[in-house]
Amino acid sequence: MTPTASERISPTAYATGYFWYRHGLSHPALATEEGRRIDRIVRPLLLGTRLLGGFSLDALMLARHRGIDRVLGDAIEQGRIGQVIEIAAGLSPRGWDLKQRFGERLTYIETDLPQMVALKQRLLADGGLLTPGHSVVALDALADSGPQSLAALAKTLDPKVGTAIVTEGLMNYLDPATAQGVWRRIAATLAQFPQGFYLNDLYLKQRRNNPAAAAFGALLSAFVRGRMHVHFSNAEEVAAVMKSCGFADVMLHQPSTLEETRRYAGIRGGDSVLILEARAAGKA
Ligand SMILES: C[S@@+](CC[C@H](N)C(=O)[O-])C[C@H]1O[C@@H](n2cnc3c(N)ncnc32)[C@H](O)[C@@H]1O
Repeated sequence: MTPTASERISPTAYATGYFWYRHGLSHPALATEEGRRIDRIVRPLLLGTRLLGGFSLDALMLARHRGIDRVLGDAIEQGRIGQVIEIAAGLSPRGWDLKQRFGERLTYIETDLPQMVALKQRLLADGGLLTPGHSVVALDALADSGPQSLAALAKTLDPKVGTAIVTEGLMNYLDPATAQGVWRRIAATLAQFPQGFYLNDLYLKQRRNNPAAAAFGALLSAFVRGRMHVHFSNAEEVAAVMKSCGFADVMLHQPSTLEETRRYAGIRGGDSVLILEARAAGKA
């Protein structure tokens, strides 16, 4: 995948959306026929990787999604966060799910490239899933300025309310320089709010030395027609890079430390997922 504002919806976005539905995390309105078709093709390959090498993409995906849900849900529940921007939301159920849980206490803005935004808006509207304070808008994570930039969207939010930004499943498609550009834009944006949280799924290089995981990485790269990038070797490097991008505090949640992800910690694939929580210094 070469992320550009003009590209058509990627097969992985459909497949991922269907995956959340198949695992009972999503609403039938977000399960597309394209997703079902791709899922039917990819599932036997994934089963093969699991049986031959013990690597479970299902565990990885569920650990990443449930881990982010848990950390984000806690921050909202504790009243630290009242606005969320989800970048590259795709067909993720999170916006709908959190709005059901928190109602008008939460403003949730899902964002993606324009074609996905049009599809998501239609699916949510057709399913009757949109509520006040829940919107889907076009945002290109790579745009520094202009109407589809994060900076422009942030101006539409309440500067007095704690804000979180989520980028589930996006950053490993980006090369290191591009990824750091995205992180810098996120840190600068979050610094404009009294509290600013950034949440992302993260993997370390040393954990991918298992042949099944490598085979899966190669398969996924071929499928998305682009290289996948694992950005960090260890926790110290994560902290140093995120701080150089403008974040004040960096925390990594292990799957074994959160109730929602503990069951995946002993499964190869699930054990590789870290949830990155990076905080901006925040406006005084
Ligand atoms: C594999 S999907 C992940 C979707 C979702 N976060 C999830 O976990 O279900 C990746 C998404 O990234 C979006 N995307 C790709 N490049 C982007 C960019 N430059 N800015 C915003 N979104 C982008 C795609 O349109 C796609 O919906």
